[in-house]
Amino acid sequence: TGFAADVLTLYPEMFPGPLGVSLAGRALGEGGWSLRTTQIRDFAEGRHRNVDDTPAGGGPGMVMRADVLARAVDAVSPENDSRPRLLMTPRGAPLRQARVRELAAGPGVVIVCGRFEGVDERLIGRRQLEEISIGDYVLSGGEVAAVVLLDAVVRLLPGVMGNDLSGLTESFEEGLLEHAQYTRPPVFEDEAIPPVLLSGDHAKVDAWRRADAEKVTRERRPDLWAARRDTEGRK
Ligand code: ADE
Repeated sequence: TGFAADVLTLYPEMFPGPLGVSLAGRALGEGGWSLRTTQIRDFAEGRHRNVDDTPAGGGPGMVMRADVLARAVDAVSPENDSRPRLLMTPRGAPLRQARVRELAAGPGVVIVCGRFEGVDERLIGRRQLEEISIGDYVLSGGEVAAVVLLDAVVRLLPGVMGNDLSGLTESFEEGLLEHAQYTRPPVFEDEAIPPVLLSGDHAKVDAWRRADAEKVTRERRPDLWAARRDTEGRK
């Protein structure tokens, strides 16, 4: 019971990392979700226990071997495992909140952390790995990306977070960035909080926040703004 995460990695000491503190860490300690790491190298053979080899066709770098990874995947995720198997890689599909929500609603995940220049394509196909990227930049491996994905998922699990922040996620899923926030003191270095926010007029506050969210989305993320107009019947 609870969300079960398996992580396959050459660096298990990178986990739980940030997932061991704060909301995710408390939920981990209380059994709200589980995290198991598997050392891929334990499934390598030979004196050197190699997990990678030179790319077929030549070229720089090293590629993770399909046979070693297959044994590691099979050890933690049988053929009938209902959990999605993910491969963290910059060539994957961009991670979005909609996929995060789907994952949080499911039984768990099996995450393979790529290293070196890539993973043998045959492993990806034969073990049905879903390739996921957390953004258009290159990390030194999939471990940090796996932590990011799990953080986004775990905060949505029932009982992990107060429902107070779920509104934040909802407005993001509406396709808008968040409006600006203020708190005390009312004046900071000669700059006052926008008076409408202190007016007590909730309708006016809502209108100000909506307008601010639209402005910040238009300015910073024209891609999100355009997608939203396309989706909502040309507003
Ligand atoms: N591994 C290296 N870079 C990555 C990225 N941007 N997303 C997911 N996994 C990665």
